[in-house]
Amino acid sequence: MKRYLIITLAGVATLLTTCSKTVYNPDVCFQEDVLPIFITNCAMPECHSTQEHEAGFDFSNYDGIRKAVKPNHPLQSEAFTTINGNNPSMPRSPYPKLTTKQVNIIKIWINMGANNTSNCKSCDTTNFSFNNRVKVIIDAWCIGCHSATNSSGGYDLSTYTGVVNSITGNKLLGSLQHAAGYSPMPKNTSALAPCDVIAIGKWISAGYPDN
Ligand code: HEC
Repeated sequence: MKRYLIITLAGVATLLTTCSKTVYNPDVCFQEDVLPIFITNCAMPECHSTQEHEAGFDFSNYDGIRKAVKPNHPLQSEAFTTINGNNPSMPRSPYPKLTTKQVNIIKIWINMGANNTSNCKSCDTTNFSFNNRVKVIIDAWCIGCHSATNSSGGYDLSTYTGVVNSITGNKLLGSLQHAAGYSPMPKNTSALAPCDVIAIGKWISAGYPDN
């Protein structure tokens, strides 16, 4: 009897930790975590972009995404139900479905009130290795429009060589800093968190090592 009680209690404890993880995580931020998922998977020019508004939705910015969200109620939010397998299931073929991790980030963000939050994590500009920092930022924000098959402006940022090519003429940093004379990137949305831009700048200044 005692043994069953312990097993049951352990079960309840596991359930509680698992649930609370998907409900709340202060590290999940709109600007750094949620927005890039929408930008690279939904806001393609022919889909839910400023130009196209497919189904009435522009997912390239906070206000547009917020229209498909009921704060604290993911199951009543179209921006969640459609990526969580319900009909219609998004993104539509041939675009890949979101990963479980991406779906969870959106769920957590909605559960926390769907606010326009930024800079939730402490800024670490001491880590600016290519693979652990620069590539992670670029994979999250840029490769939807800058891949081998879709190299907007002639830039494929899916490889180390491709990213290094974009440094020529200060294009990479100039576009990320929204500096005059460069196309502001990521396109059609706000600039990356200053912390991320600083880290990429430090990597370039250090001679852009492939590390
Ligand atoms: C929604 C699509 C889209 C996203 C997302 C995007 N780009 Fe671009 N990018 C473009 C297009 C299109 C161009 C061509 C110039 C233009 O139309 O503005 C371009 C041009 C560029 C250029 C050349 C800029 C210049 O002044 O000549 C660089 C560098 C660049 N992008 C880097 C990035 C980086 C880094 C990211 C991620 C932080 C990113 N882009 C995200 C579509 C995108």
